Amino acid sequence: HDPRRRDFINIAAVSFAGVGAIAIVLPLVNQMNPSADVLAQASTEIDISKIAPGQAIKSSFRKQPLFVRNLTPAEIAAADAVSLNELRDPQSLEERTKAGKKNWLITLGVCTHLGCVPLGAGEGENKGPFGGYFCPCHGSAYDTAGRIRQGPAPTNLHVPEYTFNSDTVVTVG
Ligand code: FES
Repeated sequence: HDPRRRDFINIAAVSFAGVGAIAIVLPLVNQMNPSADVLAQASTEIDISKIAPGQAIKSSFRKQPLFVRNLTPAEIAAADAVSLNELRDPQSLEERTKAGKKNWLITLGVCTHLGCVPLGAGEGENKGPFGGYFCPCHGSAYDTAGRIRQGPAPTNLHVPEYTFNSDTVVTVG
């Protein structure tokens, strides 16, 4: 029996444990410190002052297309006329917009089927049979509240977190 050799083995085992612990901790620390370009993407400020009723703009949020639409009174009325039990993903226009600002429909421009960019935000684009957005990939049709009404998409267009900084500027994210 050689006590010196056993000490060496114990020290070596402790050292390896130490290395292992560091290797696990570092990636966690890196994930908790997003790089500057990720932070810059975290929120997007959008000037909505030039979007007339009936118009929309295409912007982007965290590298995904974002639609900001100023609904006309007729489009709001059309959305409100739909009973929630007709909907695949039941949500009112009220729930999908901010209090007192029901005309501002802000959604990701990403079809919830397989992620194509639906038509309807650009001037003259096909808004589909429900007057909101139409996905040309497999024919999903969204209404004027961005809710799925027809086709394979399972859920409504996603409404991201956002706040109105003023009547004309919105921060998304
Ligand atoms: Fe839009 Fe399939 S990706 S309908």
